[in-house]
Amino acid sequence: MIDDVLKIFKKLDNKDLRIIAGIEIGMKHYEWVPMEELQRYTKLQYGPLHYKLGNLIRSNMVIKTNVPYEGYQIYFDGYDALAMNTFVKRNILSAIGDEIGVGKESVVHEAMKEPELAIGEPTPVIVKFHREGRTSFKQVKRVREHLADKVHFSWIYAARLAAKREFDVMNKLYPEVSIPKPIDHNRHAIVMAIARGSLLVKTKLLEPEWFLDEILRQVKITYSLGIIHADLSEYNIFVDMDSVEFIDWPQYVTPDHPQADELLERDVSNMLTFFKRKYDIKRDVGEVMEDIRNNP
Ligand SMILES: Nc1ncnc2c1ncn2[C@@H]1O[C@H](COP(=O)(O)OP(=O)(O)OP(=O)(O)O)[C@@H](O)[C@H]1O
Ligand SMILES: [Mg+2]
Repeated sequence: MIDDVLKIFKKLDNKDLRIIAGIEIGMKHYEWVPMEELQRYTKLQYGPLHYKLGNLIRSNMVIKTNVPYEGYQIYFDGYDALAMNTFVKRNILSAIGDEIGVGKESVVHEAMKEPELAIGEPTPVIVKFHREGRTSFKQVKRVREHLADKVHFSWIYAARLAAKREFDVMNKLYPEVSIPKPIDHNRHAIVMAIARGSLLVKTKLLEPEWFLDEILRQVKITYSLGIIHADLSEYNIFVDMDSVEFIDWPQYVTPDHPQADELLERDVSNMLTFFKRKYDIKRDVGEVMEDIRNNP
């Protein structure tokens, strides 16, 4: 089954996975994992290892330097493959499907979740692979090519941290707040339920008043649990017949954050502005804020 998934994913075999995992482990100590370390870890001869690394570089799993020595770093798709492999081994996922969303800091795929206790059919879920550090990665790479600087760049830690942060807060909020059910987490990836309906920005609401009220009610419940979304917009809310779901949580803050008040007010204003512009609904920010802060 693992091979199945990985064939769909990127045509990797177990040796490829072992090489990528070796680079991941090596990156704890090295900015660029030396060829000798990889040979030791994978127990492969230089020739076959070098050949396989060539393929991994071509499929964007791994990147290479020759200066000051032959060394390797994992790249996003390679890290995705390791996380996928873990989900498969845990019997969480059985297949990965199409990319259904790309954000500034993530790539989101549809995937199939194995039924619990192996009874029933697989159900569709989504996997969100975090990409924090991608932009700075490109910048750092450019700088490095010119200067060969020695700053240890660790995008995998940034992405992993963001995924853990997002998964933890989703577990804290679910099910009191209406969000996709969090299912599992590994490295920089989160498995969660598919949000119902469609993005608020792409939907024509027939009863906009009800949806605005429901969104503000969810903001209030979230706040009562000690969380502020801090990036709330029509792009991070799904709406269905009679529900709203908030997605995209890694930038959340708690009320003790120095900008907590501004961020909460910005979330609320984003919503009021959107509903004013698109549906001509008028609400007073001050009154809404007061209601949210007054629990219950
Ligand atoms: N649970 C979900 N169900 C369905 N689609 C989802 C889900 N989570 C994410 N998506 C899709 O993937 C896109 C990106 O997800 P998300 O907003 O969480 O990532 P992001 O990279 O942080 O986004 P942003 O560009 O807003 O910073 C969403 O706009 C949405 O289309
Ligand atoms: Mg988003």
